Parts: sequence; C-alpha cells; structure tokens
Amino acid sequence: MHVRKKLVAGNWKMNGSRGQLAQIGSISKAAAAAPNVDVAICPPFTLLAPAADQVGDPVLIGAQDCHARASGAHTGCTSVSMIKEAGARMVIVGHSERRADQHETDEDVRAKAQAALEAGLLTIVCVGETADEREAGRQLEVVTRQLRGSLPDDRSAGELVIAYEPVWAIGTGKVATPADVKEMHAAIRSSVIDRFGDEGHSIRILYGGSVKADNAAELFAVPHVDGALVGGASLTAEQFVPIIDAAAAAS
Ligand code: PGA
Repeated sequence: MHVRKKLVAGNWKMNGSRGQLAQIGSISKAAAAAPNVDVAICPPFTLLAPAADQVGDPVLIGAQDCHARASGAHTGCTSVSMIKEAGARMVIVGHSERRADQHETDEDVRAKAQAALEAGLLTIVCVGETADEREAGRQLEVVTRQLRGSLPDDRSAGELVIAYEPVWAIGTGKVATPADVKEMHAAIRSSVIDRFGDEGHSIRILYGGSVKADNAAELFAVPHVDGALVGGASLTAEQFVPIIDAAAAAS
C-alpha cells in the first residue's frame, strides 16, 4: 500500500499583486490546520520572495517556470538557483499555456525539469491533451508520449510530481468526468511504474482543469488522484481553502 500525501497547488499565472499576499496569509492558516495535506502557491516571479518571506513552512511557494541553464545570456529568463534564492521550494514546468504560447517542446520541458530536480526543487511536470485530440480518441497516446518526452530519467534530489491537465478543461469551467480522470490517472501510474519501477508508486499525480470547491471532493475520491493543480480558484482564500479542506477530508 503506497500512501501519497495529497498536494493542492495553486497556479496564479499572470495574476496577483502585493495586495493579494494577504490571500496567501489566510491560505497559510488553513494549510497549518491541515497537516495531512501539502499546500503550495505559485505566484508570478515578482511575488516569490515576498510570498516566501511571509508564509514560512505551511505553504510551499513555487515558480511557474524556470530556465534549464544555470546562468547566461537568456534575457527575461530565471534560473533554478535564482528561484531557490527567492525562497521558493518548487516549480511548475511544461504548463500547456507555455507549451502553446512559448512553443515549449517535450525536450525543453525535460531539460527544465532536470535542472529543477537537480536543484532539489519539487517539480510539477504538466501534461494533457487538447479537445481535438480527445475527440479523436487519442488522449492516452498523447499523454503517454508527453510523459516519455518530458520526464527526465534521473529524478535526482528533488521530487517529481505529474499534473494531468486536459487543455480543454483549463479555465473553461469544463471538468473531466471522474471516469475519464480515472482512466487517465491509471494510465499515467502504469507509465511511471514501467519507467521508474517500484518508485513509480510514490510519484504524486495531480488533476488540473477547472477544479473548484464544488467538484474537488469528487475528484479526490478517484484512484491515483493525489491532489490538484488549481488556477482560477487559487486566487482567493475563500475559493482555495475549501479545496484544501476537501483534500484533508479525502486523506
Ligand atoms: P484552472 O487552471 O483551474 O483555472 O482551470 C488550471 C491550471 O491551468 O493549472
């Protein structure tokens, strides 16, 4: 029996200002009251240091992207050591918005994940099919291919976490059905066991895409759903805390 502690991670995307750090303060109190759940918030880069200074241990603060290289002529980019120095302990890589907007490939995502894991960061690698791919019945093939290309072989010092986020469910209010999530998460579990052996049992697999207070409990009850990656509903404590509570109740 493999016990995987649930992880509820918020992705603020390009939202948030110093004024919203108060939300992280309230989220931190809820996280301290739910020791059986790991809670994380990934604000924009500009808020990493003030957020990390404010929350201390109960909430992991993370970045939404990193560069694969340690330093150099890469205007506008941020290395994993810079992210760590800001006080962050995790990073999201390969989000579908970056795969689409910044044309990131599986190979790019794998190099970023490798750098982040080597630096000891908890690293969430995102995968997920588009609406067209699902309509064509290709979702399992697409996600398996993304996993093969995006996950580094050497998981090194950090912790690898996978987030399954169907692109058509992100920010749309459409959530995958429990049956679809069950099928996909089981497929991801087999794929990481094939790849990493027994250690594949301990890799946490999150669901993401329109997770809200009113659907979280149902999703957390699905086998191999080890938490959630939450966009819109992570921006306020009012919406995010009930998701943490649902994870605590499901644990
Ligand atoms: P959403 O975003 O919860 O707003 O759908 C999820 C994500 O992109 O991580």
